[in-house]
Amino acid sequence: MRIILIGANGIIGRAIDHAMSESHDLIRVGRTSGDLHADIAKPENLRVLFENAAPYDAVICAAGEAAFGSLTGLSDKDFQLGLNSKLMGQVNLVRLGLSSMSDGGSFTLTSGVLAHHPIPESASISIVNAGVEAFAKAAALGLPRGIRINVVSPPWVSETLKALGRNPASGLPASVVAKAYVASVEGRMTGEVLDAQAYAGNA
Ligand SMILES: NC(=O)c1ccc[n+]([C@@H]2O[C@H](COP(=O)([O-])OP(=O)(O)OC[C@H]3O[C@@H](n4cnc5c(N)ncnc54)[C@H](OP(=O)(O)O)[C@@H]3O)[C@@H](O)[C@H]2O)c1
Repeated sequence: MRIILIGANGIIGRAIDHAMSESHDLIRVGRTSGDLHADIAKPENLRVLFENAAPYDAVICAAGEAAFGSLTGLSDKDFQLGLNSKLMGQVNLVRLGLSSMSDGGSFTLTSGVLAHHPIPESASISIVNAGVEAFAKAAALGLPRGIRINVVSPPWVSETLKALGRNPASGLPASVVAKAYVASVEGRMTGEVLDAQAYAGNA
């Protein structure tokens, strides 16, 4: 398959790249990294990206920003960041990427554990993650030509915890999280939220 991988240079994106590059043709995308550049928060960037990358069989997004912070500490700008980037960025990937996608193709978006297991600093991120999941479930009901959509919900990733100076053992390695993205692209499911933790036993 010819697959657009957004966030290919990130912690999760690199693991997806490693898991899929032998059997698929990947087009790696980031704002400043990768084969093609686009900021998912900018619809005009996405229009150019899809024009240049077409035709493609799948789009995977392992990217998108949202701000951590206490409820009283989060600013208007902090909330807007998550809404524009991780939420509407991924919604717009589907809206703008649909017409050039092959019949039977798929979108795989990313949410995260904080949608359903919030912490005091996740007010903004929890909205965004839950919104991505709700969008995908609704979009799955209306996608044409056998096109599918799923969301991968990663827990804390070990490599991220390590980079933050926290105990990596309480997270899931990115290589395991990547298995959920492979399952979404290569499987038949649609409208599903894939809890990456469920792939921990499939080493
Ligand atoms: N890591 C975790 O523990 C964890 C847990 C749950 C959910 N998640 C979610 O998983 C996704 C990926 O996380 P990660 O930890 O792998 O991130 P990361 O290491 O920070 O990497 C993010 C990647 O996405 C690209 N990127 C960031 N913003 C972008 C944008 N607006 N448009 C296009 N590309 C963009 C970056 O490349 P450029 O700098 O070149 O743009 C980079 O390659 C995020 O949505 C995150 O919220 C992560």
